[in-house]
Amino acid sequence: MQVMQDIDQMRAIVRDWKKQGLRVAFVPTMGNLHDGHLSLIRLAQEKADKVVASIYVNPLQFDRPDDLSAYPRTLQADLDHLEADGVDLVFTPDDKTIYPDGIEMSTKVDVPVISTILCGAHRPGHFVGVATVVCKLFNMVAPDVAVFGEKDFQQLLLIRRMAQDLNLPVTIVGAPTRREASGLAMSSRNNYLTAAEKEQAAGLYRMLRDAADKLIDAGHFYPALEQEGAAQLEAGGFVPDYVSVRRAVDLQIPSPQDKPEELVILCAAILGKARLIDNIQISRYLAER
Ligand code: PAJ
Repeated sequence: MQVMQDIDQMRAIVRDWKKQGLRVAFVPTMGNLHDGHLSLIRLAQEKADKVVASIYVNPLQFDRPDDLSAYPRTLQADLDHLEADGVDLVFTPDDKTIYPDGIEMSTKVDVPVISTILCGAHRPGHFVGVATVVCKLFNMVAPDVAVFGEKDFQQLLLIRRMAQDLNLPVTIVGAPTRREASGLAMSSRNNYLTAAEKEQAAGLYRMLRDAADKLIDAGHFYPALEQEGAAQLEAGGFVPDYVSVRRAVDLQIPSPQDKPEELVILCAAILGKARLIDNIQISRYLAER
């Protein structure tokens, strides 16, 4: 496995692979890797001949400086995992490589609507930061395929939209959410939870399943369902940011014609020191139920 910080060096390698007719898949991450990330690597390996992963904690997508400085950095352990999983190349750029003239002077990518609703409304600038860095990484790596987790459902739609709008020659693939046995979605932010809070945190997915059952079985009125979900989270010790029923294709508010299997329920809530997000796609849930 090759590890590098230099854009030109990486480009030369990817160019060489492509000359040999090999397909290249890309998995961008912020490190502190867990089984969720590694499932993306496995999917990338199914989709292509060579896999590039990146590890870069992108300052532009953090809306709070304390959140950025506290973000867990575990480079050596991450590289060990990636090597064991057969990744071909790991790109580990520094801030100077990504933002040579500083964050303020960088050209930004703004995907309208998707970037300002739900998590975007609670984290101003976050999705501009994500779209900008992912666009830059795509241009640096030039992959044929890029894999993103459905765990960050809004982020996945943001990237799909950006790739479409900017005619980026890359296929975006979504990967199912990996969960702990308790149902808690794996996340680097789970490290901020105490053991007791981790048990409590399983309540987030429990609420989503309860809400999905109500939506499927009762064709429930969505605003009431959202309020009940938020109340369930509060009773479980969370401070909810939102619980929202949306169309899975574009995250718009559903109309009465939209079928349950076309919907997704998304939520964000604070527990202790962590802001946790999760979602349930009704089509997937129906297939698993
Ligand atoms: P990060 O939080 O490190 O996540 C990297 C990728 O792993 C994302 O596509 C995310 O959706 C996926 N992922 C995280 N937890 C997962 C889980 N439990 N199951 C499946 N996939 C999971 O998301 C980012 O980094 C950044 O915003 C990034 C895209 C790298 C841009 O900086």
